Amino acid sequence: MDLVNVDYSTRIPNNVGLTEDRRILRALEGWHPGYLDWWRDMGPEGFQEALVYLRTAVSVDPKGWAKFDYVKMPEYRWGILLAPREDDRTIPFGHHFGEPAWQDIPGESRAMLRRLIVIQGDTEPASVEQQRHLGKTAPSLYDLRNLFQVNVEEGRHLWAMVYLLHKYFGRDGREEADELLRRRSGSADAPRMLGAFNEQTPDWLSFFMFTTFTDRDGKMQLESLAQSGFDPLSRTCRFMLTEEAHHMFVGETGIGRIIQRTCEAMRAAGVDDPEKIEKVRALGVIDLPTIQKKLNLHYSLSLDLFGSEVSTNAANAFNASLKGRFHEARIDDDHVDGEVKRVDEPALTALNMRLRDDYAADCAKSVERWNKVIEKTGVAFRLRLPHVAFHRQIGEFRDVQATPDGELIDSEAWKHRSDHWLPSRADGDFIADLMKPMREPGQFAGWIAPPKVGIDNKPGDFEYVKIAA
Ligand SMILES: [Fe+2]
Ligand SMILES: [Fe+2]
Repeated sequence: MDLVNVDYSTRIPNNVGLTEDRRILRALEGWHPGYLDWWRDMGPEGFQEALVYLRTAVSVDPKGWAKFDYVKMPEYRWGILLAPREDDRTIPFGHHFGEPAWQDIPGESRAMLRRLIVIQGDTEPASVEQQRHLGKTAPSLYDLRNLFQVNVEEGRHLWAMVYLLHKYFGRDGREEADELLRRRSGSADAPRMLGAFNEQTPDWLSFFMFTTFTDRDGKMQLESLAQSGFDPLSRTCRFMLTEEAHHMFVGETGIGRIIQRTCEAMRAAGVDDPEKIEKVRALGVIDLPTIQKKLNLHYSLSLDLFGSEVSTNAANAFNASLKGRFHEARIDDDHVDGEVKRVDEPALTALNMRLRDDYAADCAKSVERWNKVIEKTGVAFRLRLPHVAFHRQIGEFRDVQATPDGELIDSEAWKHRSDHWLPSRADGDFIADLMKPMREPGQFAGWIAPPKVGIDNKPGDFEYVKIAA
C-alpha cells in the first residue's frame, strides 16, 4: 500500500488502502450518492457544469501534492488523504502523555471523540452552503476559481471526517455521517451546529473576511486536533491544514486587494479623508470604515467559535489526550496539565481562552499586513481588531455590551451606536450594489485590484473558469 501517493483506481481516491478495506469502501460508496445530491442542491449555484481550473490532491508529499486541471465540480475527485504515519509517534499531552499514539479508539473516549469529529465535520459543508450564491457576483474569473477551490476542499474535509466516522464508529458513525448531509446552514429546524456557520455570506467582502477569520479558526481547531492521541484523526487534520492555508490566503489577499483599490482610487481623486464615506463610495470602491465594520463582525463571530473561555469540555478533551493546544510541541511546560495562569481559572479549564488568544495573535498579523498596504498608499487610516469583549454571544462577555475598545456600555448606548461598529443595512445595500459579475478573462471589478500573481503561475488573462454556454 502506497501511503504517500493517492490511489485513483477506486471511485473514492485515497491513501488509506480502501481497496483492501472492502467494508469501509462499501460504506463510503453508500454515502457517496447522498453527498453528490447534497453538492448539487447546496453547492455553488449555477456553475455545476462549468469547467474550473482546480487543484486536486494527488499525494500527501508536501513538496508536490497537487495537480491542476479543468474539472466540472461534481466530478471533482474528493478523496481521503491522511498524512503519512510516523512510526514512533507518542501522545504529546494529557493523561496519556508519552504513550504510543492510538491506532484505534480508546473505549472510554469514544463519545467525546465522536463529538469532536462531528463538530469539525459539520463546519465543512456549512461554509459551502453559506457561499453558494457568491458565484453569481464574482469580481473576476480568478476569484470565481478561488471560491470554487475553497468549496471543493471544504467538501473534501467533510469526506475526511466522514471516513473517520465510518471507519471507527460503527453504526453511530454512519448515522452521524448521514446527519452531516441533513443539517443546513441557517435552517430553522436543522441548523448547522455552530453560530458563525449559520450566518449569511452575502457578498465578496464577507467571503474574504470569512476566509480570513473563520477559516483561521478552522486552522486553530485542526492544529489542536492534529495533536490528538488518536492517530488517524491527527494524520487527517495534518493533511487538511495543507489545504486550509490556501483558504486563508484567498481571504487575506482578497481584503488586501480591496484595500489597495480603495486607497488608489482615493489618491487618484484627491480624497484624503477616509471618513468621507460618500465621497469614497462615489468612486465605486468600498470605504475603509465599512471594511473595518465587516472586520468587526467576522472577527467577533469567529471568536465565538472558540466556545466558552472556561470550559470543562475542553479540559476533558485535553485530559483524555484527544485535543491538544496550538503548537503543542512548542509549548514549554509539562504538557500534562497545561500552564495557563490567567484570571482565577485553573489552566485546564481555560484552554479555549488560550487557543482564542493564539488565534487573536495570528489574526493581528493579517491586519498588520493590510495596514502596510494602506500605509504604502499614504492614506491615513489603520484597521484594527476589536476588543475580545465586543459583540460576543458566547462566553464570559455574552451578557455585556462593549465598544470595539472594550469599554462597557449599557444596552441603550449599544442600540444607538452599534451601527457605527457593525455593518448596517445601508452598508449592506451599498456593497450589494457593487457586486456585478466580471466574466471576461483578465477583467476585474472596479472595487478590487488584480492579484500580484496568478494561480499555478498563470498569466493575468488566464481563463480560470470556462462557464458553460
Ligand atoms: Fe475545512
Ligand atoms: Fe477552509
